[in-house]
Amino acid sequence: MKRFAIAIDGPNGAGKSTVAREAARQLGCLYIDTGAIYRAVGLYVRRKNVPPDDRAAVAALLPEIELSLRHGPDGQHVFLSGEDVSEAIRTPEASIYAATVSKLPEVRASLLDLQRRFAREGSVVMDGRDIGTVVLPDAEVKIFLTASVDERARRRYDELRAKGQDVSFEEVKRDLEWRDRTDSTRDIAPLRAAEDAVTVDTTGLDIDESVERVMQVAKERGYGKA
Ligand code: DC
Repeated sequence: MKRFAIAIDGPNGAGKSTVAREAARQLGCLYIDTGAIYRAVGLYVRRKNVPPDDRAAVAALLPEIELSLRHGPDGQHVFLSGEDVSEAIRTPEASIYAATVSKLPEVRASLLDLQRRFAREGSVVMDGRDIGTVVLPDAEVKIFLTASVDERARRRYDELRAKGQDVSFEEVKRDLEWRDRTDSTRDIAPLRAAEDAVTVDTTGLDIDESVERVMQVAKERGYGKA
């Protein structure tokens, strides 16, 4: 089959990464989590003690950031100057740094080519915020995966509690709403559905049902088993 790309965009906590990973497994292609790349940049900025909204200072750091992805049996790992930071990028603080640096035009420009290069490695399911609109506007299948804010906050809350993090539901919801606002209102490549994207609302759906809806859209376009 010819190389193809499936773009999955949507707000925080809609289940993009879980659904995208499983869809990629079923399609036998690579799953690329682009949020991890923004998170790694955020982590680097944090480690350098640079304020994430200091445009000039963050831009000055970009040339020295060495990012790579490796894909193993347990999924994608992201490396920062050779160090596996896949776990370190998952804290609430890293989320805030990622959302803040991802507003900066220099950051988005420097990650654009990198993401496109990853997509050329083969057929991919790529998730993020601007994959269908900016990174891969020619993607064969575009999905906008969403869910109500309460449902997304509940999922994120359950996830963080399961990891032993001491957070309250209100805190998680507030953080989610702040990140939704930050992602949707930035000037460059804001979060929005591409005109040719199919919206899949996962409110009330479990993971299997969400994957099934996404696979259904892919199959209708000729990808995956009928
Ligand atoms: O999907 P995530 O929560 O891991 O993403 C972290 C942040 O990175 C999120 O606040 C928005 C940003 N991001 C982006 O701007 N564009 C992407 N393609 C992916 C993520």
